Amino acid sequence: MLRLAPDLFVPPESAPAQATPAKIDVRGLNYFYDGRQVLFDVDLGLPPHKVTAFIGPSGCGKSALLRALNRLDERRPGTRVTGTITLDGEDIHRPDTDLRRLRRRVGMVFAQPRLFPGSVFDNVAYGLRTAGIDDLRTLTDRVETALRRADLWDDIRDRLADDARSLSPGAAQQLCIARALAVGPEVLLLDDPTGALDPIATARIEGLLADLRESLTIVVVTHAPQQAARVSQRIALFHDGRLVEVGDTRVVFTRPRERLTLDYLTGRYG
Ligand SMILES: Nc1ncnc2c1ncn2[C@@H]1O[C@H](COP(=O)(O)OP(=O)(O)OP(=O)(O)O)[C@@H](O)[C@H]1O
Ligand SMILES: [Mg+2]
Repeated sequence: MLRLAPDLFVPPESAPAQATPAKIDVRGLNYFYDGRQVLFDVDLGLPPHKVTAFIGPSGCGKSALLRALNRLDERRPGTRVTGTITLDGEDIHRPDTDLRRLRRRVGMVFAQPRLFPGSVFDNVAYGLRTAGIDDLRTLTDRVETALRRADLWDDIRDRLADDARSLSPGAAQQLCIARALAVGPEVLLLDDPTGALDPIATARIEGLLADLRESLTIVVVTHAPQQAARVSQRIALFHDGRLVEVGDTRVVFTRPRERLTLDYLTGRYG
């Protein structure tokens, strides 16, 4: 048996399977960029109210999978998908899927905070305005709620008219999270959200994820196994476009099933 940290408590192997259905379910997913396959036959369920961490070496397909989950590469020529992804049991590739609605339900945050030119307020209100909300009272309420949920309101309530690009990198990333939250997503996908941040800003975002998962389904891509250990309840390890192992974070850290997982978690490759 592979053992990483034998002193940690490990739940019994026979723990009951999750009763709750997956919020997002991925079955037999293959993904191609320009004819080159980058994901192979991925089967993965994302349970609600949990943080699932995607880990694995650079180029293994973590971002490709994240982008597949809200059809972000849709308009990119050369992208091809086979297999199914369901959100609450509904195929997201159905011809009548409203892409804007899908992306409101499945929000995305990137490693480099992507702020739009304009004020703090405008950045958070962006998705609401795109969705046709222009009543100032409603916008103001929603912006405040989103900033509170992103743990940024107290820091920024007096700076709503400031240029968003004047914010520190940590606050900018929280602002991106607030912008995603403003449109009321059910799923939040974060691609290495602390990759560009210092340890203090990182800790703040990690704390935020713990709060947000009560109301959301969260996926976080991280290059740091220790971050995955801190923030996630489920962990999925990828290698060369394949899902190597997925399971309860504590179990994967203490008793990984696969040699590749052990090697990755102990820093022997990646
Ligand atoms: N826009 C693109 N066009 C063509 N190939 C791409 C594109 N984006 C990614 N790839 C390729 O797809 C594969 C998976 O890349 P992906 O970005 O998903 O990896 P990753 O696990 O997110 O890596 P990292 O940890 O470096 O972010 C890689 O081989 C990469 O070169
Ligand atoms: Mg990536």
